[in-house]
Amino acid sequence: MLKPISYKNDKIIILDQTKIPEDEIYIEVDTIEVLYEAIKMLKIRGAPLLGIAAAYGIRLSSTINLNKNIDDYKNCLLNDITILKSSRPTAVNLFNVLNKAEKSINSYNDKFRIHESLVSLAVKTHEEDREMCDKIADNGVNLIKNNAKILTHCNTGVLATGGIGTALGIIYRSFWKGKKPDVYVGETRPLLQGARLTAFELTNEGINVHIIPDSARAYIMMEKKIDIVITGADRIAMNGDTANKIGTFDTAINARYFNIPFYIAAPTSTFDKNASDMNDIPIEQRNPEELYKVGYQGLTKTKADFINPAFDITPNKLINGIITEKGIILPPYEKNIPDFI
Ligand code: MRU
Repeated sequence: MLKPISYKNDKIIILDQTKIPEDEIYIEVDTIEVLYEAIKMLKIRGAPLLGIAAAYGIRLSSTINLNKNIDDYKNCLLNDITILKSSRPTAVNLFNVLNKAEKSINSYNDKFRIHESLVSLAVKTHEEDREMCDKIADNGVNLIKNNAKILTHCNTGVLATGGIGTALGIIYRSFWKGKKPDVYVGETRPLLQGARLTAFELTNEGINVHIIPDSARAYIMMEKKIDIVITGADRIAMNGDTANKIGTFDTAINARYFNIPFYIAAPTSTFDKNASDMNDIPIEQRNPEELYKVGYQGLTKTKADFINPAFDITPNKLINGIITEKGIILPPYEKNIPDFI
């Protein structure tokens, strides 16, 4: 399987996801500025993987600054945390990890003790995410019947997590159990995570994949009689409102119209205890340049405004269940989420 991130010889090794599927190029990250840029440009992406990248980032920062006096050491680390927090706003996993790192830095006055805690935070974040993916797959696989037609969105697999993935982890597990899943994925305009990454991952494993235009989802649900929709999440509020890749919200509306169950798969690290509902979730607005090129024709000469939100929020009432490593959370979410996480 692909290795989207690892830590070796005081460098973070990242698989550059902007080059997939044409090339598999690994880049060595040895400064926080390079990591910031890699996150911003989506060389590394996916909510759980961003949490892991942030954890390795602070481990790297600690190593780089370890020879400074304690005050300078702490200041440099806190400054790097601020830089990483300003990279992408929506995936809460990144903030959850950086808040833990901040707590360690502020709790001790011995830099070697802080360093030790940051090394163990990085190792633990990666390892726990791998385990959570396996458990999400265990908990979700029974929702998949034999020969199920599954619709998913964006990329939620090996390339988005520390393990086999969330929504895609369930699909992998169903395939390994011989259930023969048949997967439909929207191309995920404008950066094509569905067409480039999900199709690449799943077909490499021998899973049947159909790439569709994002705008064909309602048609495909009706024509192909989709059995189930499963997507991932970037941030889940305490009432179950869920931010995920732009297009998830209208996928959920379409699924409800056709009475197709719509599930979110995510580790509990994706819940935001400080967000009571969708109003507390920030949505990343990305550079309009990503929209300029459509099909064969560049649109750069148009005077029109381009709007490029990277995420949207699916209201809790459209979600049939949230599959986590601790089990499936069912509505009413306001009551049930606090018991699970
Ligand atoms: O902009 P991206 O590629 O980081 O967006 C990723 C998604 O929206 C994923 O669906 C989400 O992070 C869940 S990954 C398990």
